Amino acid sequence: MAQLVPAEPFDLVIFGGNGDLALRKLLPALYHRDGDRQLSPDSRIIAVGRTPLDRESYVTGVRKALQTALSECLNEARWDDFATRLDYLDFDAGDHRSWGKLEQVLSGHEHKIRAIYMATAPTLFGPIAQGFKVNGLMTEHMRIVLEKPVGHDYLSAHAINDEVGACFDENQTFRIDHYLGKETVQNLLSLRFGNSLFEPLWRREVIDHVQITVAEELGAGNRIEFYDSIGALRDMVQNHLLQLFCLVAMEPPISLDDDAVRDEKLKVLRALKPVTAREVKTNTVRGQYSAGAIAGAAVRGYAQELDAQSRTETFVALKVEVDNWRWSGIPFYLRSGKRLPAKHSEILIQFKPVPHAIFDQAHYPTRPNQLSIMLQPNEGVQLRIMAKEPGPGGFSLKPVSLALSFEETFGIRYPDAYERLLMEVLRGNPALFMRRDEIEAAWQWIDQIVAGWEASRQEVETYVAGSWGPAAAAMLLDRDGRAWETG
Ligand code: BG6
Repeated sequence: MAQLVPAEPFDLVIFGGNGDLALRKLLPALYHRDGDRQLSPDSRIIAVGRTPLDRESYVTGVRKALQTALSECLNEARWDDFATRLDYLDFDAGDHRSWGKLEQVLSGHEHKIRAIYMATAPTLFGPIAQGFKVNGLMTEHMRIVLEKPVGHDYLSAHAINDEVGACFDENQTFRIDHYLGKETVQNLLSLRFGNSLFEPLWRREVIDHVQITVAEELGAGNRIEFYDSIGALRDMVQNHLLQLFCLVAMEPPISLDDDAVRDEKLKVLRALKPVTAREVKTNTVRGQYSAGAIAGAAVRGYAQELDAQSRTETFVALKVEVDNWRWSGIPFYLRSGKRLPAKHSEILIQFKPVPHAIFDQAHYPTRPNQLSIMLQPNEGVQLRIMAKEPGPGGFSLKPVSLALSFEETFGIRYPDAYERLLMEVLRGNPALFMRRDEIEAAWQWIDQIVAGWEASRQEVETYVAGSWGPAAAAMLLDRDGRAWETG
């Protein structure tokens, strides 16, 4: 098991501390790290929210939330320790009395790491950062964590980054993309750069194309109104899928240091082929789910859930190309959607077919090799190769898998991405977070697609909940003589 290094004493102030993200993800993650003795005894978690609540009611609410969020039973002794760290402050960023209360709580703890976590609407990121500065709450060891989305396009992201940047240095600013904290995403780095086997194959001469799928069974859920203002392209592709894509496509970094990997990812984003109006039409697909069934249970359509007609996409598929020597002409197909048949996230590298077939193709077609990196469920790696079926008669070939399941191999609970990311914040290590230039480059590329959709009023095609998206998503590959591996 990896060595667990305790964090220096800290005060973590969570804005939106009574919200869904804090209760479902951040507090369970901190509870786990505390259970592994990574939080020092004098570290505190100060939740800040608009709801007026006393400390006791807040702590009771957190206990309930942990009971729902944890896959195992709450450990009473651990919980008692953890609960002593919690505090709650009702707070209005525009009211100077709120800042006075926060100052009182933080006073006398200036020697510790002071981390503020913005689990709020992005419009508050700037004003709260500014509030820390003007109210004299900045200390020597400050960090600010920005939850996604940072803005809704390039201009808004740029403005937020400017506002936050006026108070915090870039190396104190941690922009979260929780996919970068997922174990399997990190394993992608180990796979590529901890083995000599794959790197010589990682190029246009050997790889036919790459598929990246992030499929969810869930619908837009109780944040549907917010979701309706962004849609799948901004919610999933601008961040999670582009980050996965960058890790697959980037050049080997010189180290794992703060900027080395981020420099390489940025180069990939800058090498993304621009999407012209014509390509928006041919290379992008938008979809929205209608009523259907998932795992035998009937589910409502998006418009029914929203109780209004909408042109927001809950599914998107893209054909993406990279203008550089390694990847020129090799398509990356990206897709993500809600209300698909299963939670299934996978990166699939499809190699080129053998140059000359010596086996009987009519009966035993030689299928191209595939490397599948499964993010969820069943995290693992499979290399699909052709093998001879045992037996005396002829050469009967069959595709088989060399499979590695991380959970079976390492036999430990897979920590949630937020556990790792929160510890990295406290340690002051920004390597797993998005740098300003990365996030802005990603928005610039996404903005072209949004503009193309708006200009052409591109159709949002319907797909039945529980299917793999609209027919046009299959056509996107079919047109190139290819098919999605799943679905
Ligand atoms: C979030 C999106 O960033 O990621 C959600 O806003 C989505 O819409 C979620 O459901 C998916 O994360 P995960 O870790 O469950 O794949």
